[in-house]
Amino acid sequence: MSVVEVRTAPAYGVVIERGILVGLGERVRGVSSAAKTLVVTDSNVAELYLDTAVAALEAQGFEATSFVLEAGEKSKNPQTYLNIIDDLAKNGFKRTDAIVALGGGVVGDVAGFAAATYMRGVDLIQVPTTLLAMIDSSIGGKTGVDLPLGKNLLGAFYQPKLVVADIEVLSSLPACEWKNGVGEGVKYACLAGGEIAEILKRGLNESNLERFVYLCASYKADIVARDEKESGLRMLLNLGHTLGHALEKQSGFTMPHGVAVACGIERMAFAARTRRQLSVEDHEAIRAMLVKYSLTCAADINDEILAYVAMDKKSQGKEHISIVEISGIGDCRINKMTYDEFEDYIMTKQGV
Ligand SMILES: NC(=O)c1ccc[n+]([C@@H]2O[C@H](COP(=O)([O-])OP(=O)(O)OC[C@H]3O[C@@H](n4cnc5c(N)ncnc54)[C@H](O)[C@@H]3O)[C@@H](O)[C@H]2O)c1
Repeated sequence: MSVVEVRTAPAYGVVIERGILVGLGERVRGVSSAAKTLVVTDSNVAELYLDTAVAALEAQGFEATSFVLEAGEKSKNPQTYLNIIDDLAKNGFKRTDAIVALGGGVVGDVAGFAAATYMRGVDLIQVPTTLLAMIDSSIGGKTGVDLPLGKNLLGAFYQPKLVVADIEVLSSLPACEWKNGVGEGVKYACLAGGEIAEILKRGLNESNLERFVYLCASYKADIVARDEKESGLRMLLNLGHTLGHALEKQSGFTMPHGVAVACGIERMAFAARTRRQLSVEDHEAIRAMLVKYSLTCAADINDEILAYVAMDKKSQGKEHISIVEISGIGDCRINKMTYDEFEDYIMTKQGV
């Protein structure tokens, strides 16, 4: 077992262990005095792990009910959020009760937003079941839903009481979801370098998976603790996201988030190399990681994609885009640019 302490105010733990789902009730009991728990999950995860989660909660005396949303990004919308709120109200949930988010980032984000807002906030326990959710979305308190105009436009910062990551549940993850999670993993490899990058270069496997989750979670926890509301440092975690979000949007959200982020990283690395900001050696190493996990970008960065970037910038009412430049593996920095400068940066072709 490994535990990461997220030093926000208040602090909470990320407990990582194989088979820990059967002990979920004890873990929740340790952080919450709730009488009722609503387990929010999706249609795929419900079939696999809902009974175990509910039984584990009931064994500790919780009254456990469930809310199952349809799997997929399309469910991360205001209507699903309102349906969860309705369910809580109809079942008499009080401010002292709790929501358990059992699933990937979609479940974590929408259930987290319901927890943040129902009766002005109830206890939230994140139980991530995808690699992406374990290393990224379950930690740090970003919750929310998508609007027709863009991703995550409605949301709140709301830290969970606890994150329980059972490495065992990753055994049922489809190949495409592994790829999706590794996409965010490559982000950590570029940001942190060191052992995270080494594991990805050698190959992520059963024997190093728990360590990999621990290292990525620790990196994120450290950044979040230093900049909880993303006023500066935390923007580093958006490496690859400027283009990534635009690609997701262009695909009608059929391109998985982590795959889109990997694509954004590939382009940022290429641009940095052509501008001699990134060494040929480090660029090749990043490329090799992307190739190893079949994450190289098939999408063409064209005017349509750039128009989505511009639209994003406009909807946020910002003059500048904060982008994360890669100067080396383990050496990334935030730089503010105008949209025109970004277009120039990303479309650069000279040099290589
Ligand atoms: N809050 C944050 O800080 C943050 C960070 C990164 C991404 N996100 C968000 O996370 C979302 C993406 O999350 P995701 O990639 O986990 O997608 P997801 O939640 O849609 O899960 C992906 C698929 O895997 C299935 N699944 C989940 N766990 C499984 C398991 N153990 N076995 C078999 N199938 C399983 C799900 O049913 C789903 O079909 C996006 O909405 C993104 O915006 C949020």
